[in-house]
Amino acid sequence: MTDRYCVLGNPITHSKSPLIHAEFAHQTQQALEYTAQEAPLDGFADAWRAFVDAGGRGANVTVPFKEEAFALCDTLSHRARRAGAVNTLILGGNGRTYGDTTDGVGLVRDLAYHRVALAGKRVLVIGAGGAVRGILEPLLGEQPSEVVVVNRTAAKAEQLAHDFADLGSITGGGFDTLDGTFDVVINGTSASLSGDLPPLPDALFAPGAWAYDMMYGSEPTVFLQWAGPRGAKLLDGLGMLVEQAAEAFFLWRNERPNTAPVREVLRQSLNYS
Ligand code: ATR
Repeated sequence: MTDRYCVLGNPITHSKSPLIHAEFAHQTQQALEYTAQEAPLDGFADAWRAFVDAGGRGANVTVPFKEEAFALCDTLSHRARRAGAVNTLILGGNGRTYGDTTDGVGLVRDLAYHRVALAGKRVLVIGAGGAVRGILEPLLGEQPSEVVVVNRTAAKAEQLAHDFADLGSITGGGFDTLDGTFDVVINGTSASLSGDLPPLPDALFAPGAWAYDMMYGSEPTVFLQWAGPRGAKLLDGLGMLVEQAAEAFFLWRNERPNTAPVREVLRQSLNYS
């Protein structure tokens, strides 16, 4: 029987993961099936177990189930424990579920792909929700000179800075605490989804700085539209999506796909969806 994988989310119809994993499977000549499965909002754990009972070997987990996935795992990776979230489930021996998160490594790999330096750089992260919690450990691992987290609700940014302080130089606060310029500015808020722009000062970008939005769409996000005229080089979250998927594929199949051609396929699919 062909090995089965899926992405579990709600809603799930617009997920790009089946397309990405089909490309990876084709490229690496692995026989596997990968589908999108909508889990009921009150039935995530049952949906995973039903998938396993039907022969499933692993799953990706997306909104809004990453914390629930974390809660149901029998074993967790170190980085998942730190993130408090799981985006990759793996069925282990004796029917046990192992959980990992590949979002943060996906971001860092995408930045490396675009030759965005992090070591010794001043990095601003906007937002303090689950998505940001998931990227801080890999980001601090690249040894930036400083990571500043700002958020609409200042206390959440302060809490994150406190929780990750053992990994490097990190501070947190409200938008009113912003000071100086940054080499890399990462928007990890969900504000882009509603077309909102966080309240940012005009002089935010150091010369040669990058603006990165963890969201993506067929058009540049409002954050990127704002950052472009202010001198930043722009990246959206599509590469991060492909890289987190590649890391999940590696965890399941022990083979690392080449992400470059898949980035192209995905970018084209956005233009026609
Ligand atoms: P996710 O899993 O995407 O991180 P989340 O945990 O709900 O979702 O976090 C959403 C983040 O986007 C938060 O940092 C939120 O700010 P608050 O903590 O103050 O709620 C931020 N956010 C959402 N809409 C926003 C907006 N219109 N302006 C600024 N920040 C916004």
